[in-house]
Order: sequence, then C-alpha cells, then structure tokens
Amino acid sequence: MKLKGRTAIITGGSGGIGNAIAKRLAADGANIAIVDLVNAQAAAAELTGAGIRAIGLTADVASEADAAAAVEQTVATLGGIDILVNNAAMTAPPRPFEEIGVADWRRMMEVNTLGPYLMCRAVSPHLRAQKYGRIINIASDTVHLGVPYMLHYVSSKGALIAFTRALAREFGKDGVNVNGIAPGFTLSERIAKQQDRVELFRREQFKALAIQRDEFPEDLAGIASFLASEDCAFMTGQTVVVDGGYAMV
Ligand SMILES: NC(=O)c1ccc[n+]([C@@H]2O[C@H](COP(=O)([O-])OP(=O)(O)OC[C@H]3O[C@@H](n4cnc5c(N)ncnc54)[C@H](O)[C@@H]3O)[C@@H](O)[C@H]2O)c1
Repeated sequence: MKLKGRTAIITGGSGGIGNAIAKRLAADGANIAIVDLVNAQAAAAELTGAGIRAIGLTADVASEADAAAAVEQTVATLGGIDILVNNAAMTAPPRPFEEIGVADWRRMMEVNTLGPYLMCRAVSPHLRAQKYGRIINIASDTVHLGVPYMLHYVSSKGALIAFTRALAREFGKDGVNVNGIAPGFTLSERIAKQQDRVELFRREQFKALAIQRDEFPEDLAGIASFLASEDCAFMTGQTVVVDGGYAMV
C-alpha cells in the first residue's frame, strides 16, 4: 500500500493501458480519478465496487476548460491531487505522411501534446503548494524506432518525451518528479481487436524483441507504480522504454 493516502488522475483510464495503470495504483492504495472522453463513470464504478475511492469524469484533455474542471473536481471530491498519469492519446491508421492533412495533424497534437500540457498546468498549483507530486507521461517506443506511416503520432510522442525532460527541470525544486513510459506494441482492447495487425507484428517484428511475446497493458503497471511512488525520489526527466527489449536506448 505504498500509495495509501495519495490521489491519482489517470487520463484515458477507461480502458487499455490507462485502465491497467489505474487498477495497479488503486491496488497500491491510491484514490483514483478516471478522466476520459468515454466510459469514465463505468471504469470508476468498477473500482468503487472493489472498495476503492474513485470517481469518473467525462472530459476532453485537449479542452482547456475540461482539463481545469477535471482537476478541480478531483481535488473537491477526493481531497487533493498527488499523481497525474497523462495516458489519453489518439492514434490514426497508417498512411504516407503526404496524406495526413493539416486538420488531422493539428488534432493529433492537440490531444497528445496540448492535452498533457493542460493537465500539468491544472495540477501545478496543487503540487507546488504541497511540494510533492508525480507526473507520468505515456509516450511510445515508436519515437526511438522511427516507425513510418504515422508521422503525426510519432512526432507527438517525441514531443512528449522532450516535454517530460524540460518540465522535470521546471518542477525539480518543488518535489514534483516528471517521468515517462514508452510502451511497445501493446494488446490493449483497441489493438487486440485488429487481428491482422497483431499477426503482422508477430510475424515481422517479434524477432527483433529480446523477449519474444505479446505485450499487455499489465506489463506497464509495475513501472507506473514505481514512478508514482516515493521510491523514485531522485529520478526525473526520464522516459523508460517497456517493450520487451525492442528499442534499446
Ligand atoms: N497500445 C499500444 O500499442 C501503444 C504503444 C505505445 C504507446 N501507447 C500509448 O499508450 C497510451 C494508451 O494506449 P492504449 O492502447 O491503451 O489506448 P486506448 O485507445 O485503448 O485508450 C486510450 C484512452 O484515451 C481516451 N482518450 C482519447 N482521446 C481522449 C481525449 N481527447 N480526452 C480524454 N480521453 C481521451 C480514449 O477514450 C481511451 O479510453 C496512449 O498514450 C498510447 O499512445 C500505446
């Protein structure tokens, strides 16, 4: 129960990796706010049913008003905020970069980079005032691998790794540590449904992994638990790759 008494917001926590992280932080003792475009209340109800203090908030992280309201509601209902997991993100079907289009590029950046910024800005006064906080940004190993045909997605995740480093320096004196996790190809419900893509990955990429098996959302939970805790007191600005040893950085 190393997070007992702490409160965590997990954006995009209704399903997939965010939900696995929410469940792990809850098992570690944290109160949980699930912030998502969809199914936030249902995901929170699953936690409260298991005896966890949890709330679900419907919000678009790319909206300034939604991000601010989500943090204020969390503080008002759960009594504070200590941990922010910026997990919500969008992806897009693979296509050559010339076909992405300006509107798609802008929306990708809004959700995947402006969203984390707005959430960090909203928690900042609370974390600075209490001189304690943990921020975890979910990036992607595609940044290190140079994966093609998703240039706006990969660029947004590269920006998030740079954001993690620079923000860590701004927060360093305030006891707020900012770190990231870069998952590999992970069988969240969204991905697992795409059987062709899963089979293609197994056939063509498995040989490049040191640990040659599928990656599951639960594979990201242990590192999130560590980064959310007091154990990572002297670690900040880092993004940990968790992908079975595909990208080694
Ligand atoms: N699954 C993978 O293979 C993989 C690989 C590398 C990185 N990641 C990253 O891990 C994170 C989670 O991935 P996942 O596969 O579990 O995704 P997912 O699509 O299963 O879950 C994402 C969640 O974010 C929510 N969301 C999307 N846009 C939102 C917005 N604007 N505001 C609030 N909520 C929003 C969705 O409703 C969804 O519940 C993402 O940041 C993703 O980029 C995933």
